[in-house]
Amino acid sequence: MSKNILVTGGAGYIGSHTCVELIKAGYHAIIVDNFSNSEKFVIDRIEELAGKSVELIEGDCADERLLLEKLSKTKIDGVIHFAAYKAVGESSKDPLKYYTNNLNSTSSILKVMEELKCENLVFSSSCTVYGQPDQLPVTETSPVKPAESPYGRTKQICENIITDFIDAGKKLKALSLRYFNPIGAHPSAKIGELPLGVPNNLVPFITQTAAGIREKLTVFGSDYDTKDGTCIRDYIHVVDLAKAHVKALDYLLKKEGSLYDAINIGTGEGSSVKEVVDTFEKVNEVKLNYQMGDRRPGDVEKVYADASYAEKVLGWKAELSLEESLKDAWRWQKTLKV
Ligand code: UFG
Repeated sequence: MSKNILVTGGAGYIGSHTCVELIKAGYHAIIVDNFSNSEKFVIDRIEELAGKSVELIEGDCADERLLLEKLSKTKIDGVIHFAAYKAVGESSKDPLKYYTNNLNSTSSILKVMEELKCENLVFSSSCTVYGQPDQLPVTETSPVKPAESPYGRTKQICENIITDFIDAGKKLKALSLRYFNPIGAHPSAKIGELPLGVPNNLVPFITQTAAGIREKLTVFGSDYDTKDGTCIRDYIHVVDLAKAHVKALDYLLKKEGSLYDAINIGTGEGSSVKEVVDTFEKVNEVKLNYQMGDRRPGDVEKVYADASYAEKVLGWKAELSLEESLKDAWRWQKTLKV
């Protein structure tokens, strides 16, 4: 019998890729999604790619009653909790929207897990919890710094909600996966990122500019203390990131008792914005209209992972290159209607 994994936000960007990898690894995915930032056709695409059906609970994962009603007869072996708002800029303009949604959904999921006696949780966290780290590459022992945005603060608080729950003596095994910068799309170009409106993130802005949807990319800052003056990030292919979740679940399901750990999920390589732009142009043979502009408030200068702990604990490491990520991002963009 396949193990049942509840995936909150399973129709979203990282959630959908993770469901495909989960099913391919032999798990059964039960998705809960309210489609507030995702599309229903993604469910069909997941099924098409994985060759198996998924179960869907349409609704909000902060709605404990709904989840308990729908899941009362199902044994849930593990939960991957993705569902959250994630726009850094919006979180500064409307912090309560972020606190209400992201914190409530996490505490609701924990209550549901307790009720259903499910003891395995993978939480979708972010390298934003480190702020601008004092030392690079950033390891899991680096201090959690004051967050740069309410969004970042919700990730820190949710990690604390989980550890407080365990410290209170509840039986739970949990891993917070601290993602660096997920990019790219499934190589089939059947699923990928679907940004709402003008993208905030670099790669969707690049692909939309190359597609003629945006006139020009502005590189935010060219006077940083980096090799070419532009910011450095650790860009990870979304399929590699998805596979890290499968490894995290495999790990939790083998353990006994309660445990908590936080694990960086990155490639260990830092790339500058200029390198991303140049690589995109080269691998896809397209010319990108871009200009250098002012710094974006709140940006950290450089951040990239020490990814060795993930390899040690989970036996996972990133396999796909920046070149492959940017090819897949462009292939996906070309399938989208303008
Ligand atoms: N950038 C540009 N032009 C753009 C968009 C982005 O130059 O139009 C630059 C940014 O200044 C930054 C880099 O591209 O230097 C990456 O920016 P993103 O917005 O793609 O990603 P961030 O690193 O700012 O944010 C990401 C996630 C957040 C997470 C954060 C943690 O989107 O969810 O990493 O550092 F919190």
